[in-house]
Amino acid sequence: ARKIIIDTDPGQDDAVAILLALASPEEIEVLGITAVAGNVPLALTARNARIVCELAGRPDIKVYAGCDRPLGRKLVTAEHVHGKTGLNGPVLPDPVMPLQDAHAVDFIIDTVRAQDSGAVTLCPLGPLTNIAMAFEKAPDIIDRLAGIVLMGGAYFQVGNITPAAEFNIYVDPQAADIVFRSGTDITVMPLDVTHKALVTAPRNDAFRALGNRVGAAVADMTDFFERFDKEKYGSAGAPLHDPCVTAYLIRPELFSGRRINVEIETRSELTMGMTVADWWRVTDRPANALFIGDVDADGFFDLLTERLARL
Ligand code: BDR
Ligand code: CA
Repeated sequence: ARKIIIDTDPGQDDAVAILLALASPEEIEVLGITAVAGNVPLALTARNARIVCELAGRPDIKVYAGCDRPLGRKLVTAEHVHGKTGLNGPVLPDPVMPLQDAHAVDFIIDTVRAQDSGAVTLCPLGPLTNIAMAFEKAPDIIDRLAGIVLMGGAYFQVGNITPAAEFNIYVDPQAADIVFRSGTDITVMPLDVTHKALVTAPRNDAFRALGNRVGAAVADMTDFFERFDKEKYGSAGAPLHDPCVTAYLIRPELFSGRRINVEIETRSELTMGMTVADWWRVTDRPANALFIGDVDADGFFDLLTERLARL
C-alpha cells in the first residue's frame, strides 16, 4: 500500500476523500492526517478531521493541527459552500479521539524523515500552508518524497473563488508557489477534472442506498453543498473535488492529463492565486506537474460507492 499523509481542511468533499482512503487499506496506508485552515478556521478543520475518522470507525488515526493562517495573507474561508461548521449536512457526534500534541508541520517532517526515502506521498486537499512550511523548515524532505497528489487550481475552468483562481491556491498563493517550485513530483486535480466528477441525483441515491452510516452521512454531506454548487454552476450535480486525489491513488487509470509547466500568480491582486498552466506548451518552461484534465466519472463513482460500502 502507498503510504500517505492527508493534509486537509474538511470540508464535505475532504471528508469523502478521507473516507475513500480509509476504506482502501490495500492500496493506501494513511500515516496521519494534518489539518490546515481553509474552508473553515483551523479549530474546526482539526475537529472535522477527527469526526470523519470516527465515522470511518478509525479513532486510531493520528490527527494533527497545523497552520491557522496562510503564510502572508489573511485567511479566506468558504462557509458559503460548506456551512458554518465546514461539515454541515449530516448530524455527527462530537469527536472523542484526541488531537495529537505535535504540530502538523513537525509531524510531516518527522514522518518523511523516518520513512524510507521515496516512500511517502503527500495528499493536500486544502491550502498548501502546512506543506510549504514543512518544505521551508526542512528542505531535505523534498527529495525524500514519493511525490504530491493535490486538489487545487484550474485552467479552462478558471476560478471558483475569484474569476481567476481556485479556492485552495487562492487562500495561500505563496505556499502554492513554494510547492510548485519545489521540484518534487506533483500531480494536480484542478477544477477542470473535478467539474467532471459530478454528484448527480442517481449517484447520491447510490450512496444513500448503501444502507450504512457512512453512506447516509456522505449523501447528507453532498446534499448540503449541492445546494450551493448546483445553483451556481447549473450542472447536473456538484463537483466532488477532493476525492479525485484519493481515487487517483487507487485507480490512476481512471484519470488522464498532461505533464506541463504550472506557475502560481502571487503578485497581481486581480489574478492572485491563478494557476498559470501551460496546457498547450506554448513556452519552453520545464514541466513541473502532471495536470489532470479528464476522469472516467462513472468509474470514479463506482469505485467510491463500492469502497464506502465497506465502512
Ligand atoms: C476546493 O476548495 C474547497 O472548498 C474544497 O474542499 C476543495 O478542496 C475546491 O476548490
Ligand atoms: Ca478541501
